[in-house]
Amino acid sequence: MGFQISISSFLLLAFLLHLATSDDTSTQLLSGLNKYRGSLNLTSFTDNSNADCLAEQVALAFKGEECSNSTGSSTVPGTETQLPNFPNYLSTCHLNATVTRDGSIMPVCVHGLTPDLVLSNYTETQYNQFLNDSSFVGIGIADEGNWVVVVLTTDTPTGNYAPAADTTSGSTILVATHLYVMLLLLGFALFFIS
Ligand SMILES: *[C@@H]1O[C@H](CO)[C@@H](O)[C@H](O)[C@H]1NC(C)=O
Ligand SMILES: *[C@@H]1O[C@H](CO)[C@@H](O)[C@H](O)[C@H]1NC(C)=O
Ligand SMILES: *[C@@H]1O[C@H](CO)[C@@H](O)[C@H](O)[C@H]1NC(C)=O
Ligand SMILES: *[C@@H]1O[C@H](CO)[C@@H](O)[C@H](O)[C@H]1NC(C)=O
Ligand SMILES: *[C@@H]1O[C@H](CO)[C@@H](O)[C@H](O)[C@H]1NC(C)=O
Repeated sequence: MGFQISISSFLLLAFLLHLATSDDTSTQLLSGLNKYRGSLNLTSFTDNSNADCLAEQVALAFKGEECSNSTGSSTVPGTETQLPNFPNYLSTCHLNATVTRDGSIMPVCVHGLTPDLVLSNYTETQYNQFLNDSSFVGIGIADEGNWVVVVLTTDTPTGNYAPAADTTSGSTILVATHLYVMLLLLGFALFFIS
């Protein structure tokens, strides 16, 4: 009994600590994007956890790639990197091609994730046509390495990233991507217990 409680508290602690310390880029970017929306008299974006999940999958796919003048916000429209595993990302996030069709997926690459450059890579590039668009209401953000991915969602059935029947998908993914931290701490927990 005590054994189980120790492990779950370690897991919870690891999870909360990790959430608290790793989301600076996303938080700052969301606040910057919503200021931008405010300056255009548009509503703020609200968080969409399924879009967060898909953003995370895409960010992981770009993670190892170097920034160049033809990636991210400088991509020539029509030459975007095609992600061969995209259908898998959708199913990982319990989404399908219907509910994501009108959404917008916007990767940017900024060395060191300098906050001002990250923000202006959205507000001062071709991406601003999406930020300016009142049909986008929801947002998901993730960062990995030098990459940030923003996913915008609509409030229509063809872009709302509606959770599939199983609504636990978002948190499952979050847990999965942070599993390594937990396993590390679990190792400590078991060490002290035994
Ligand atoms: C936003 O609304 C305010 C007050 O209604 C108006 O003065 C301003 O020009 C508007 N700005 C834009 C970008 O539409
Ligand atoms: C991108 O960089 C390459 C090599 O550094 C250069 O040849 C090319 O002109 C650049 N393209 C743009 C659009 O700046
Ligand atoms: C976008 O980020 C790159 C760094 O990867 C930076 O050189 C460029 O100036 C940024 N573009 C804008 C419009 O902020
Ligand atoms: C978005 O709004 C900004 C600020 O009003 C403007 O500079 C930019 O041209 C707009 N972009 C598009 C694609 O409409
Ligand atoms: C996609 O998911 C939505 C929401 O769960 C559902 O209404 C729709 O029928 C699904 N479409 C396909 C093609 O599976």
